[in-house]
Amino acid sequence: MSANLNQTNIEIDDPNFQALFADLQGNILKGHGRDDSRHIFFRFTGNSDENCRWVESFAGEVTSTLAQHQQILSYKRDRHHQLFVNFMLSCSGYLALDIPQKYWPQDKAFRSGMKDLQVCYDTLPRGDHSPKSNPLNDDVQQWESAFRNRVDGMILLAYGGDSARETRQILDDKVSELKKQLAGIAEITLVQAGYVMRNEKEQVIEHFGFVDGVSNPKFLFSDLNEEFKNGGYSRNDPSASLNTVLVKDPGGDNNSYGTYVTYRKLQQNIKGFWKKLDLLANTLSELGQQKVDAEYAGALCVGRFKDGTPISEQGNDGWSNLFNNFNYDDDVDGLRCPFHSHTRKTNPRGDTVRQFNSPPTIEQSRRIVRRGISFGDKNLNPDSEWTDAGLLFISLQASIVDQFIFMQHTWCNNEGFVRENTGIDPLVGQVLPGENIQPQSWPGKWGNGAGKVDFEFSGFVRTLGGEYLFMPSIHFLRHLS
Ligand code: HEM
Repeated sequence: MSANLNQTNIEIDDPNFQALFADLQGNILKGHGRDDSRHIFFRFTGNSDENCRWVESFAGEVTSTLAQHQQILSYKRDRHHQLFVNFMLSCSGYLALDIPQKYWPQDKAFRSGMKDLQVCYDTLPRGDHSPKSNPLNDDVQQWESAFRNRVDGMILLAYGGDSARETRQILDDKVSELKKQLAGIAEITLVQAGYVMRNEKEQVIEHFGFVDGVSNPKFLFSDLNEEFKNGGYSRNDPSASLNTVLVKDPGGDNNSYGTYVTYRKLQQNIKGFWKKLDLLANTLSELGQQKVDAEYAGALCVGRFKDGTPISEQGNDGWSNLFNNFNYDDDVDGLRCPFHSHTRKTNPRGDTVRQFNSPPTIEQSRRIVRRGISFGDKNLNPDSEWTDAGLLFISLQASIVDQFIFMQHTWCNNEGFVRENTGIDPLVGQVLPGENIQPQSWPGKWGNGAGKVDFEFSGFVRTLGGEYLFMPSIHFLRHLS
């Protein structure tokens, strides 16, 4: 019997899900939790039989959801560190393994790949796509060569040892071992290192300095319980059913599920971002009705202050960090948190219900699971613009078209979402190369529409490459031939 994917709030030891969890890769329902990772991109070079035999042998090293849970227990018991491993394939990877098409994942974007210029135009709601660009408005010519060329798959290794040295050693040794194993089978096209950055409170941050990874759909009872202790969920329910992220693996057996992966290497211009925030703060102070600084202007861009406090939430005692237990019911005109702010564009928390009368379940179904990690130089105050710093954005979803692409294309890149003249997401919104960007409209005073100020803010994140992948069931990986 297949599992009920509508279920939420599942205990990891629920007997009805043991077979599914044993066959499902880890890092999907819960993040792997390690602070360092290596993303090893490869392109098969061997014949399909040899390729399949290697994947089958490697399947034994992939960490299942159950094994991930055992690793957590063993770490809590005796501080024993273990390597975490994910394995994913692009559509060209399925082809190189000579897998019959009926076993391929269905998603149209997965089938076309991220570089494809024509991907799923017919499935997207706006009618104004230019055939010159892909639906994300990416400038593929500017991508790193590893991503401009064919990517067949990616192995994710993650480890968190007692010291940085131990961690580096374990990960580098594993990469060397893989290079040997893959000789004659596949060419490693990129080994991308990722690491978690933390602030003085040990919270995870991204390169602009903002706390990241706060709001994510929660599938397991233990994680939901954690969120409950951390601010509750009376105004925002983070629980999500399994079908937000899982689909049946067409190449597996009855208990086999997988997830679609969006991978994007996003470079961040830290110096440029903060310089522009200074300018925005000065402009708001001059033309608006309150004196503000760059930190406040940054919160208008992101939707949260650097410490994670939502900008929409202020009580008599000042800002209240409601963590994730907030919505925009008291800010229906975007006068506290602008409609264009990154967190409001990517999770409108009821705006689409108010604006389009669309059912809340539709908005909820757009949610993605974020498992990204930072890359490059850890310096948050670089001397120059466009340094080697950014985010290895990884989202997991049941549909790339209806979740990630919809979010990036129809929400972040769309100047008319959620209302006309909203403007693009100032963090990650992209227009076609060479196209004009209309200024966003910023509240000149918190909660007050009288002094709105127009100011164009964009262009501090650029895409260096990416791919759509599928993280199949372990059963599929073990039984290729
Ligand atoms: C939330 C930064 C790219 C989707 C956030 C938050 C920050 C952030 C600081 C708030 C903390 C949190 O809730 O975790 C960034 C940076 C990016 C980036 C610096 C690029 C370098 C993206 C992209 C997408 C995305 C490409 C998808 C198109 C989301 C979502 C949330 C979020 C869904 C949660 C919103 C909520 O539920 O309130 N991001 N992000 N992010 N971001 Fe991003």
